[in-house]
Amino acid sequence: MALRVETERLLIRGWTEDDIDPYANMASDPEVMRYIGNGEPRGRDYAEEFVRRMIRLHEERGWIRFAVEHGETGRFMGFCGYEMQDEVLDFGWRYARDFWGGGYGSEASLAVLGIGRETYGLTGIESQSYPENVGSIRIIEKLGMTYLRESVSFGRRIVHYGFPEER
Ligand SMILES: CC(C)(COP(=O)(O)OP(=O)(O)OC[C@H]1O[C@@H](n2cnc3c(N)ncnc32)[C@H](O)[C@@H]1OP(=O)(O)O)[C@@H](O)C(=O)NCCC(=O)NCCS
Repeated sequence: MALRVETERLLIRGWTEDDIDPYANMASDPEVMRYIGNGEPRGRDYAEEFVRRMIRLHEERGWIRFAVEHGETGRFMGFCGYEMQDEVLDFGWRYARDFWGGGYGSEASLAVLGIGRETYGLTGIESQSYPENVGSIRIIEKLGMTYLRESVSFGRRIVHYGFPEER
């Protein structure tokens, strides 16, 4: 069943084809993509493939990188949720620049951590970030995660956090 969870200011939900355009806009913004993968903005093909994969995986198994919608305006904001990465259950988030700095990232991630655990029974949840991405590291800390290890991706240092007691 499609997930729809309201928080104080947000709607956490599955994706629709209508999300492709705003997601493509977001993915083409170099500031948004600065700390993602190789740091390059991505094109519409990536956005289409991503949104369609999320729609399919939501139907198949439930947990995904959920779409996050602004409650008051109904605008698509970005995503928050889970994806397997190198055999690790990665918990990540990404929002359009218009929505930064208002506490939305914290609000969504706290809600989606609860959804992951309670609705989908997920364990072994981890998050990773380039250490320079201060806002993301702050969200990780607020979730109560602790430092696990480091790795290198695209020649840059990445820090990994999680809940060691859950593993
Ligand atoms: C990182 C990101 C998710 C933060 O979202 P947000 O909605 O702005 O986060 P919040 O407003 O909830 O802020 C969380 C905390 O980080 C701090 N913070 C956020 N951005 C910051 C920045 N650029 N520099 C310093 N601190 C920052 C906030 O002050 C807040 O701290 P507090 O709770 O102690 O007051 C958002 O900037 C984003 O989508 N960036 C692009 C994609 C990305 O980098 N995703 C993460 C990849 S690992």
